Amino acid sequence: MCGIVGYVGRANKAQEVILSGLERLEYRGYDSSGIAVLTNSKLECHKFKGKLSVLKDFLSNNTLNGNVGIGHTRWATHGNPTNENAHPHINEKNNIAIVHNGIIENYLELKQMLIENGYVFKSETDSEVIVYLFDMYYDENLLNTAFKVRELIRGTYAIVIIHNDQKEEFIAMRNEAPLVIGYGEKENFVASDITAILEYTKDISFLDNGEIAVVKKDSVVVYDKNKNMVEKEHTTINWSLEQATKCGYKHFMLKEIHEQPSDIRDTLNSRIDKSGLIKLDDIKLTESDIKKFNKIYIVACGTAFNAGCVGKYIIEKLSKIHVTCEIASEFRYQDPFVDENTLTIIVSQSGETADTLSALRLAKRKGSRILSITNVVDSSIARESDDVFYTWAGPEIAVASTKAYTTQLTAFYMIALNLGLYNKTLSINDYKQYIKLLMQTADVLQNMLENTDEEKQIANEIKDSTSIFYLGRLVDGQTAKEMALKLKEISYIFAESFVAGELKHGPIALIEKGTPVIALSTQKNMVEKMISNIQEVKARGAYVIGIGNEHDKALQDICQKFIKIPNIDDLFMPLVSVLPGQLIAYYVSDLKGYDVDKPRNLAKSVTVE
Ligand code: AGP
Repeated sequence: MCGIVGYVGRANKAQEVILSGLERLEYRGYDSSGIAVLTNSKLECHKFKGKLSVLKDFLSNNTLNGNVGIGHTRWATHGNPTNENAHPHINEKNNIAIVHNGIIENYLELKQMLIENGYVFKSETDSEVIVYLFDMYYDENLLNTAFKVRELIRGTYAIVIIHNDQKEEFIAMRNEAPLVIGYGEKENFVASDITAILEYTKDISFLDNGEIAVVKKDSVVVYDKNKNMVEKEHTTINWSLEQATKCGYKHFMLKEIHEQPSDIRDTLNSRIDKSGLIKLDDIKLTESDIKKFNKIYIVACGTAFNAGCVGKYIIEKLSKIHVTCEIASEFRYQDPFVDENTLTIIVSQSGETADTLSALRLAKRKGSRILSITNVVDSSIARESDDVFYTWAGPEIAVASTKAYTTQLTAFYMIALNLGLYNKTLSINDYKQYIKLLMQTADVLQNMLENTDEEKQIANEIKDSTSIFYLGRLVDGQTAKEMALKLKEISYIFAESFVAGELKHGPIALIEKGTPVIALSTQKNMVEKMISNIQEVKARGAYVIGIGNEHDKALQDICQKFIKIPNIDDLFMPLVSVLPGQLIAYYVSDLKGYDVDKPRNLAKSVTVE
């Protein structure tokens, strides 16, 4: 997620506040930074790829003296980390600068229109369209221009704008991506999160979706989507700086669990075009390419591997192409059946995992086309792939992966739907219907997150267990793997997932009185089988916590505890059914007093073998 800081107020204070605020936002992860200040004579803008220190070193000999300014740390989504792609973006006349967090979903059509009107783009970003829209529609009144631009852009955005004609104000506008206004004495602030301005003020208000704020040093006027002035409620923040970094959540992991609905929307929505089709601009696979592939490998480690195992089910179901899912550290030492007719899908949140990178290189040497799904633009894996599908989950700080997993699944659904369309195993009507259902899953997830009491209670019941079983069949068996991994890595409890039909072939010997068993059953065609498996383990004393469709009464009745999942199409259950497992793992670890975000023995990115 990008970081934004804006300031208006005391003479020559803009640069100091902005740099200090950007420093506070470094934890969010970024790959470039920049600043624009209205100095006495003109708008001055400097921006650099790399760490904030590059910008600070430059400014140490080139101080920007002004009382209005904006700053930005960029987490790349559209376009690699470069000076040109860094924010702020400025217009040719050099009198408007903007910073942006989020994704402008209709940027391609806006870019086309602007180019036809003579604008020359310098970056690969979606954000650059914003500054040229302001330039095109500026009518001496920055607020009116903002109203106009708001009507034109679609997507998630937090935008702050300055104009050299309006030397005593900045304008902030918000839709989905957060923006907070800070109130000071003869000075006011804006930031993407409170952390950036907490040292200057604890008196804040949050912009709501569709609102636009005109901020001067001694006034803040906010307009709603109907252009009516609105009174904003002020909040006094009593968080410590450390708490503010997590936006009030106790841990990054909990924050990232709650970010999943918006991250799924970000990964999905900007790739759905006006006709409701998926546009995978980042993937240049043609129909003839697809026809050439006679097998698909998915290769990854850890959570990314678990996502790949679900991806296998999704691709096979929708495209009828056989998929093999392999752990990278195994794949790279086999002699896999990979050749020029193979598509190898590499999955990696960090894009730097050593085993996964080596597996990519092996597949490439054998002639395979390489498609990677990764969360980090310009990462090693991204750079060595033929095609890259970026998940737009923003930086994932907690070692235990959550939002990267669900956005990887989102990527698999989109790839699988297009493969199915190309392979003619999906009718266009089914394709469009599935896209509609996929777009609804983020709302389902959001609803599930509104009440997590059940997971808290279950966590309290099982937190002192020495071993916990996770059961599932078919795709639920793969989701169960991810649930077990979450619990293992942050609560240090031995947890193992089993495909339920396999219990009677040995593992059931481990079940004894009180053994907690978490049984996941979301697939209608497997419920009866799962009920039998649950009865098997209950007969041996197990304490069964079921997770399944809210309408499945038979399943609920045989479980001692049951977490209901809203009734959605079986195909999309993996995207939402993992949530209870993530939450249970989180609450167990927190109840045990462990360092949830930095569990022992683990690293966020395993760049060594
Ligand atoms: C996830 O919770 C783990 N921390 C870990 O298994 C991780 O998924 C694995 O190391 C792969 O990382 P990557 O996705 O960055 O390649």
